[in-house]
Amino acid sequence: MKLKILITAAIAAYSFHLQAQTVALKPKADLVKLIDKNLKDANAQYKVLMTNVPKDSLPETFQNNRSKSTSAKNWVSGFYPGTMFYLYKGTQEPAMYTAGLEKLPVMEPMKTIDSHDIGFMMYCSFGNANQIKPSAAYKDVLLTSAQSLSKRFNPKVGCTMSWSSKPGEFRVIIDNMMNLELLMWATKVSGDSSYAKIAISHANTTMKNHFRPDYSSYHLVNYNPETGGINKKQTVQGYADSSAWARGQGWGLYGFTMMYRETKDKKYLNQAKNIANFILSHRNLPADKVPYWDFNAPDIPNAYRDASAGAIYASALIELAGYVDAVNAKKYINVAETIIRTLSSDKFKAAPGENGGFILKHSVGHLPKGAMIDVPLTYADYYFVEAMLRYKNLGKK
Ligand code: GLY
Repeated sequence: MKLKILITAAIAAYSFHLQAQTVALKPKADLVKLIDKNLKDANAQYKVLMTNVPKDSLPETFQNNRSKSTSAKNWVSGFYPGTMFYLYKGTQEPAMYTAGLEKLPVMEPMKTIDSHDIGFMMYCSFGNANQIKPSAAYKDVLLTSAQSLSKRFNPKVGCTMSWSSKPGEFRVIIDNMMNLELLMWATKVSGDSSYAKIAISHANTTMKNHFRPDYSSYHLVNYNPETGGINKKQTVQGYADSSAWARGQGWGLYGFTMMYRETKDKKYLNQAKNIANFILSHRNLPADKVPYWDFNAPDIPNAYRDASAGAIYASALIELAGYVDAVNAKKYINVAETIIRTLSSDKFKAAPGENGGFILKHSVGHLPKGAMIDVPLTYADYYFVEAMLRYKNLGKK
């Protein structure tokens, strides 16, 4: 009996010790080896993908045995050059850098586009290029992009507007959390605090209105632009207004983790931890941790998986693990490791030369619209490569 009490006390003390400290996170050698192989394979795949992309377009998906490219105006345009820059960072292969650079002139006119997605488009492309080789020209493009996004801010609502709205409506989607990184960057480099103020207001308003008590999020909150009041909360890409669309949960997790990095405001950290807890403890999250396209899809376990959501979770969880106590860090890293291993398996990773040159199979773009279901998607590849680079960098500053 005494021994049992002693053991229980020792376990309690050890777990308290773990909870009180952050750990030095270290990548596992076997997973690093797998990641290095994945990056090498990804380079080879992207050489195939390159041959399928017209000069003035950007790849989006591969469907019914055909490559689908898109114009720079599409929200997904920046992911392809961004992935190229990541692959160059990860492998030092010059062909990737050159291919990424070739797309920047196609992307540049988008710096003045009136789109809430401008952060995805420009920060993933020019932002990544600027990290490799900072230049005044890149900085100029990015600052102009931040100005363009700022124009969509409505102080009554406290958010930047998502899709163009009808009179009396101002629609904001959870995805927009991802565009705030461009605004935070713009304040850092320009010294003009107005960008960060917009980002912080958007994050605070989203935190207040987009989330349910269990920290799952609605896809869309429709505001009244004159009063800032809420017209309705609903979904567009998810299964139902009340459901948890898997990628949307990822945009929130990633977005609030990033806002904590940029502001050090603990409320964003708590929000990110709560979102992580919703995802990780959900009964419908499969054991391999790549979610179904919606946590409430009625046909689970036969519902489509969404590799893009899995990749976003992995990348966000690896960053979040660096900001939390040892117990949570271990939990987040374990899940991120599982996701990377799952996405590296034959089930999700394309065989050489197949899949139109995309790295990953099995993502879901817009199921209710019947668009891009169970296909490769450029952003799944982007966040998968990002997650792998972040994992390899664990423990390094
Ligand atoms: N931002 C659009 C999507 O996640 O599909």
